[in-house]
Parts: sequence; structure tokens; C-alpha cells
Amino acid sequence: MSFALTTTMFAFLLFTFMYFLFKLYLHPKQKTLNHKKPPGPSTLPIIGNLHILGKLPHRTLQSLSKKYGPIMSLQLGQVPTIIISSSKAAESFLKTHDIVFASRPKVQGSDLMSYGSKGMAFSEYGPYWRSVRKFCTLKLFSASKVEMFGPIRKEKLDVLVISLEKAALEGEVVNVSEVVENLIEDIVYKMMFGRSKYEQFDMNKLVLEAMALMGAFNLADYVPWLGVFDLQGLTRACKKTSKALDEVLEMIITEHEQTTNTDKTRNEDFVDILLSIMHQTIDVEGEQNLVIDRTNIKAILLDMIAASVHTSATTIEWALSELLRHSRVMKILQDEIQNEVGNKRMVEEKDLKKFNYLDMVVDETLRLYPVGPLLIPRECRESITIDGYFITKKTRVIVNAWAIGRDCNVWSENADEFYPERFIDKKMNYQGHEFESIPFGSGRRRCPGIQLGLIIVKLVIAQFVHCFNWELPHNISPSNLNMEEKFGLSIPRAQHLQAIPSYRLDDAKHE
Ligand code: HEM
Ligand SMILES: *[C@@H]1O[C@H](CO)[C@@H](O)[C@H](O)[C@H]1NC(C)=O
Repeated sequence: MSFALTTTMFAFLLFTFMYFLFKLYLHPKQKTLNHKKPPGPSTLPIIGNLHILGKLPHRTLQSLSKKYGPIMSLQLGQVPTIIISSSKAAESFLKTHDIVFASRPKVQGSDLMSYGSKGMAFSEYGPYWRSVRKFCTLKLFSASKVEMFGPIRKEKLDVLVISLEKAALEGEVVNVSEVVENLIEDIVYKMMFGRSKYEQFDMNKLVLEAMALMGAFNLADYVPWLGVFDLQGLTRACKKTSKALDEVLEMIITEHEQTTNTDKTRNEDFVDILLSIMHQTIDVEGEQNLVIDRTNIKAILLDMIAASVHTSATTIEWALSELLRHSRVMKILQDEIQNEVGNKRMVEEKDLKKFNYLDMVVDETLRLYPVGPLLIPRECRESITIDGYFITKKTRVIVNAWAIGRDCNVWSENADEFYPERFIDKKMNYQGHEFESIPFGSGRRRCPGIQLGLIIVKLVIAQFVHCFNWELPHNISPSNLNMEEKFGLSIPRAQHLQAIPSYRLDDAKHE
């Protein structure tokens, strides 16, 4: 979000001036009177409302929507945009008219990074996306696949608990953010590539770079003719990172191709599953001849990594932060788990379904900290009138899931407070029926990894609080823990969470 560079601003002023001249002499203003647009703040030439978004757009947009309403117009550069900020409006756009808004806008970052948007998350609505999504849902995200990868989660978590036990003995301060991120990376890479560690390259660093680039506010997406100047240097950076990532993915795929025939004992991973359809058609509708090639596989893999690691890790960090701030909630949660599991063994995945309070803690965390605060932008596929407002084809639609989860009209005056009990009579299943909290989005484009994401998040939180008591270091009092967020493709904590563990089980067996 650092587009407020002086050079950029200077360029803006220059272009603004040129634009005025251009408008004045060549294009006398035309008004369309019969098409009512949703209300919104006034705009500047060229940049429209881009300048008002600020460092935390989800917060800015929330306060703007209080003034202009739950369906609001913004002009982001040249892109007409609608911001949705209430659960009722979200239901109308993501359920009633879901099919109209089931596409994604083309953005430069994903175009450069995912081989011309050949992955899933950023590709436009159509037979390709439908086929890829259907295939992945069936072969990678099904309940049986989620279960199949269970042993990987156990293995990685066991290793971490042992190292945390050591830290506890020494009374060390643990960088919780770091260990959680490393854990999730290990789990996800093992599940996708068959192994977690690569000596030759720093996968984590590359993925972080790619995420930062895709999450950056790229002027080229909003003022296309400025794109050629690459004022922010994003185009160059994208090309560089995508080249490095491509080499990594190539290596991983080649490695799989070479071992598939020889090593039958190896467990199947995502790459194997995707390779099994290489050069085959996956078109489920017979509309087109959709053949999967190497590029598609790389693009899909990249999307999976970007969509799974930081979403799960960030959710866990926020949950642990809130538990550290609310000892009452922490105690109830630890008691719930201990009542089922006792204090002699670790939590196992099959225990999870018995933990109602854990579900509430996770629902409450996702309500307050939906890691994709603005989901992933949608694009209107055909002009439509909703609630009396005319929305033109190609309009970008941004859903402020963050604001929806904190809406006082729905969640009462204490909407900003962490209070899991509010979910006692409100079972969330994120399958597109509830709109009061939509951390996974909704409709055709909703997150296909919900089950996988939730099981990772719940297992890690349960294990962390069951095996350890946690205390804040440096005499930080719970009420003083900094809870500020950063904005990007996800909203992680602005400051890394640190805490001191103490082991609380009698005699755990790590078999
Ligand atoms: C706590 C964990 C997670 C959260 C909060 C989350 C959230 C989201 C959100 C908000 C979207 C956009 C939905 C929309 O536009 O309506 C999304 C899309 C997506 N997520 Fe997740 N996600 C999580 C975990 C995962 C995991 C573990 C995977 C897979 C390995 C995954 C794969 C995807 C994919 C592929 C999409 C794009 C779907 C499409 O465009 O068709 N997510 N996720
Ligand atoms: C905690 O880990 C993060 C992520 O690896 C790192 O950037 C940060 O500097 C660490 N903080 C401390 C105090 O070690």
C-alpha cells in the first residue's frame, strides 16, 4: 500500500492536469440520468477515490459505509467499484445474484504471477474455472483427502510440541507468530509437495514476496495507461519473483515425474494428484477442450500455497492472542479439552468434534479477524439492477467481510469484543447459509478449503492450549497486548506475538 510515493504523486498531478485538458476539449461531460448509482464519496479525476483508502482500507471503508450505506460506490482509478458492508447486502450479491458476481477482475499481479491467471483464485468465471474448481474440490479438498493428510498434521505438530516443551523447561520466550507460521508451512508443503524442506531455495521467502506483490495496490490495475510507466516498480518485481518461483515449481514437478515410476512407497501428495491429469482433459461440461498442461499445474499449486499458509497461520495467531488477553475464555477452553482428553495425552484429531467451545472460539476469531478482510474482489458479469441501483457490467465488487463481522446492528453493541459465547445458539458452518460473518466468502467463489483450513486451525489451537499454559513476556499485561493489524492479501498482526509456555500435561506420550 505504499503508493503515496512522491514520484507517484508528482506523476498524478501532471496527469491530472493533462486529463482535465483532454476532458474539457474532447469529451464534453455526458450524464446518464436513468441509471441510479449507489451513493459514494466525491471523486478526483484519474485517481477517483484511490487516495482515501489509507493504510487499513477495511477500516476506512467501514467508516465510509456508515455515511453512504451498505451498498456504496467508489471510483478506484478508472474502475467503478461497489463496496458491500452489511450481511443483508452480502446475501443479495453473493447468494441471490451470485452467478452475476462470480467472476474475478483481471489484475496484473496474478496475471504475471499465475501464468496469465491459469490458477483458480483469480481466474475469470467460465468453463476453465468451473472445471479446475470441480476437480480440486473432489480430488484435493474432499473430506476423505482432508483425513488422508491427517498423519502429516500430527507428525509436524508432535515435533513442535517437543521443542516447545524444551522452551518451557528453559523458561524461554517463544516467538509464537514464527513457530506457528513455520508449522503451517511445514504441514502445507509436505501435503502438497511431499516434503517440507528444500536446501536449494527459500520457498517461504519467495511465497511471502509473491503475496506482498499480489496484495500491493497496483496502479496499473486502476489506471491502466499508467501501467506502462511501472511507477511503483511492481511489474519488474513481479516478473523477477515469478521467474524464481517458476524455477522452484519446475524442480518440484520434475522431481515428482522422476520418482513416480520408481518409488511406489511414497505417499501421494497434491503434485502427484495434479500430475495424474497432465495432458488430459478435465472439462466437466464438454464445452471446450480443456487440457491440463504444466503451466496449469504450476498456477494451481501456487494458488493453493498462497491461499492456505498465511490464512491458517494468521487465524491461529489471532486466536492465541485473544486467548492470552481473556484468561476466562482460555480457562473454559482448557477445561473443555481436559474433560475429554484428560491430562496425560495430547489432543488427537478425532477429539475435535467434541469441542463445542473450541468451535465458538474459532468462529469468534474468524468474525473479528477474517484473514481476507475484503475477500477476493469479484467482477460483475452483466449489468443488473439491485435495490434500485444500476450496476454496470465489469464493475468491481468488494465485500467488506471485516465490517460485516463487526456490524453493531447484527452483533450488538459489544461487536468489537472477543466474546465466544455469542455463538452458543448460532452454529456456523460456512456453507453459504449464514451471512452475519463470512470469513470464507460465500457463493460459487467461496473458499473451497474451509474444511482443511478449519481442521488445521482447530487442531493447532487445541494442542497449544492443552499442552501449555501461556504467559505474556516482559510484564506485558493482557489488556495491553498490541492488537493492531497490517493490511495485505491477509491481515496479520502488526506486531509478532510472543509468549512464554509452561508445560501442563502430566506425562504425555509422543508416539
Ligand atoms: C482459515 C483458513 C482460510 C480462510 C479464512 C480462507 C478464506 C478465503 C476467502 C475469504 C476466499 C475468497 C472467497 C470469496 O471470494 O468469496 C478464499 C478463496 C480461496 N481459498 Fe481459502 N481460506 C482459508 C484456507 C484455505 C485453504 C487451507 C485452502 C486450500 C489449500 C484454500 C483455498 C482457497 C482457494 C483455491 C480460493 C479461491 C476460490 C475461487 O476463486 O474459486 N483456502 N479463501
Ligand atoms: C518473530 O518471528 C518473525 C517471523 O519470522 C520475525 O520477523 C521477528 O523478527 C521475530 N521476532 C522476534 C522478537 O524475534
